[in-house]
Amino acid sequence: MFIKKLQLKNFRNYTDADIEFSKKKILFIGKNAQGKTNLLEAVFYLSSLNSFRAKSDFELIKWNEEFCNIKAEINKYDINSELEINIPLQGRKKLKVNGINKSKFSEFISNISTVCFTTNDLLLLRGTPDDRRKWLDLAICQIFPSYIERLNKYNKIKTQKNNYLKTLKGNIQSDLSLLDVWNEQLAITGSNITYIRINFLHELLKIAKDKHQKISSDEIFTMNYNSSFLNDIELESKYPNTIEYILEQFTLQLQEKKQDEIIRAQSLTGPHRDDITYFINSIEAKKYASQGQQRTIVLALKLAELQLIKEKINTNAILLLDDVLAELDDIRQNYLLDAIGDDTQTIITSVDTLHFQHEYLKDVEIFEIKDNIIIKN
Ligand SMILES: Nc1ncnc2c1ncn2[C@@H]1O[C@H](COP(=O)(O)OP(=O)(O)OP(=O)(O)O)[C@@H](O)[C@H]1O
Ligand SMILES: [Mg+2]
Repeated sequence: MFIKKLQLKNFRNYTDADIEFSKKKILFIGKNAQGKTNLLEAVFYLSSLNSFRAKSDFELIKWNEEFCNIKAEINKYDINSELEINIPLQGRKKLKVNGINKSKFSEFISNISTVCFTTNDLLLLRGTPDDRRKWLDLAICQIFPSYIERLNKYNKIKTQKNNYLKTLKGNIQSDLSLLDVWNEQLAITGSNITYIRINFLHELLKIAKDKHQKISSDEIFTMNYNSSFLNDIELESKYPNTIEYILEQFTLQLQEKKQDEIIRAQSLTGPHRDDITYFINSIEAKKYASQGQQRTIVLALKLAELQLIKEKINTNAILLLDDVLAELDDIRQNYLLDAIGDDTQTIITSVDTLHFQHEYLKDVEIFEIKDNIIIKN
């Protein structure tokens, strides 16, 4: 798949931007704070209805404006489609595919998949569990678009449950029948999410392990999934349990934590509390790995994402690389650029072209960004 056209209105620092892409390799060059990352953010938003950096959609609207608009022409399986998102300051965002309104997020994001690699991702291991869950959930959405509805449903039930817990004011003698209803719904959606996450990570690890070994030559990479209601899962081996087993365990844990949850007025167990641990040669990478070793892990994971999408949906995702080349040493840079197949549309941002080999620059479409204006070189 590839993006042919991107139009922005009141998106971040852009009042009006209109870009046409004619190549698979695209480079945005510009000094700091010109709007390079903003462009990648817009493309990423089309594929996940979420930003990799904004906490709220409103941050995307240009200051002092009432709405923002992202419009794009995408080609997938040789079919062109037009995607449009409108985010108003007041009210819900509106989505259109070929001019037709879509109320289901999955019907929108199924039209485009991206893999995004930013300098922030290099901190994936050191970051918070929240960062890791966000990465994982958005990566899954690129392959299973309907996962986004399950996640939204889970979050909605969790919010309702939390609101209800607050009304109980820590009184464990209250009538808890409504809490049981929330817990039952939470268990069904939550076990589904957990099951999908474990299976996705298992498949991703198989590919990432191989890529990691190629870059680091002799180190063995692996990951565990840390669930708040199951024993730690070694993702290396295929998960032997069924979704029914997960549901049973989650239900049991919800029962066990009930009193605690009422007293603390918080949902204490479920996939919103889970995490991932990374290991190199069986040693926990977060604590002991060097910066370079951590970068290799992230690089291997991102390239694995790209390959897994290709295997699952039979077309290449669009790769977005935000400033990462400057952060990687020569070996990792070359590995990354070599690993990207010619068929993968790659949009790279950089302050200059210094990090690119002459060979790479031969067939690249270069845009320069200065004072909010994008000019094709
Ligand atoms: N909602 C908004 N409205 C207007 N301007 C915004 C908004 N959000 C961000 N900006 C501005 O957009 C500018 C460009 O941001 P961006 O992160 O894309 O820069 P960049 O070119 O990637 O820079 P760097 O090289 O430092 O990463 C920033 O100066 C920021 O203040
Ligand atoms: Mg940037």
